[in-house]
Amino acid sequence: MKNLFIRKPDDMHIHLRRGEVLTNVLLFTSNIFTRAVVMGNLQKPIITAKNVISYRMEILKQAPKFKPIMSIMLVNSTTAEIVKNAYLAGAKALKLIPENTSINSTDGVSLIDLEKFYPVLKTAQELGMIFSGHWELNRHPLKEFIPELKREVAAISYLEKLIHDIPGLKIVVEHISTKEMIEFIKRAPKNVAATLTAHHAVLTIDDVMDKNGKIVNPYNYCKPVPKSDNDRKAVIEAMTSGNPKFFFGSDSAPHLIVKKESLKPPPGIFSAPVALPLLCQIFKTNKALDKLEKFASEFGAKFYGLELNKEKIEITRREWIVPSQHADIRIFMGGEKLSWSVV
Ligand code: DOR
Ligand code: ZN
Ligand code: ZN
Repeated sequence: MKNLFIRKPDDMHIHLRRGEVLTNVLLFTSNIFTRAVVMGNLQKPIITAKNVISYRMEILKQAPKFKPIMSIMLVNSTTAEIVKNAYLAGAKALKLIPENTSINSTDGVSLIDLEKFYPVLKTAQELGMIFSGHWELNRHPLKEFIPELKREVAAISYLEKLIHDIPGLKIVVEHISTKEMIEFIKRAPKNVAATLTAHHAVLTIDDVMDKNGKIVNPYNYCKPVPKSDNDRKAVIEAMTSGNPKFFFGSDSAPHLIVKKESLKPPPGIFSAPVALPLLCQIFKTNKALDKLEKFASEFGAKFYGLELNKEKIEITRREWIVPSQHADIRIFMGGEKLSWSVV
């Protein structure tokens, strides 16, 4: 089996954090990926042009050749004016994590209230920004709680309404995890696409929780939670199908070990150190290595209206054991063997 040369990839969805954690995780991405869409759900979220500029500077100071694709969060205070200024400051995506569905989203706009933000979304559309969303519904309008496993499917009718109401808006449905959502994306118009993670292609709910919903492995806990084996297979099928609506977004999301091992572990999987080798493994196992480059390096850039990267990267056929941690962060698949390497 020969080494592989592909166009350098882009990670269309990542959490890099700030400060010390940023310093500890950034190179895993910037050494391999030319660009990455950087999420702004920080403790103090990225919600204005000023935030975008200072966050970009903080990233570039540590990795001057890396090209972060900046985003701002849609929160209850977001206005059309704020979106326009953020765009002028370089933000390419407007990101939604609905209220209390994931990390640092207490001020996220609820899907139930999305209509109130149509003027903001129309501005994003006019500017050609991408509306990138974490599509999960945690409560019905009458407030009944929705269990984690059902939240993505429960969000589909809201997504359908948005696509109908603002038909020109470019939408990326992030880290999708169910067969239902995948089928929905396939049927949706071509301005609607989705990112897929590597971890949703290898995990099922049994790797995360027991039958009572108790977390058995906090390092496999992420949002949306991995689902059934059928859902996992649907993720792989979409990933390896060569359909340009599906492209790579790692959703690599580091959390310190002390937090992960606390009574209430935060969701998020630090997968950046294994991203490309793991994708290679998945594509190889599914006899689709010829589709890897499109999935990891082309479809995302095209959807975002970016030029394709010109440089290539060599992926070598070399076995290695994934280290269990870096700094105070556990690495996804730590201790396991991978057959491809990028260093
Ligand atoms: O697992 C997740 N972690 N899902 C998200 O949506 C957010 C992320 C994080 O920021 O840790
Ligand atoms: Zn998310
Ligand atoms: Zn994310």
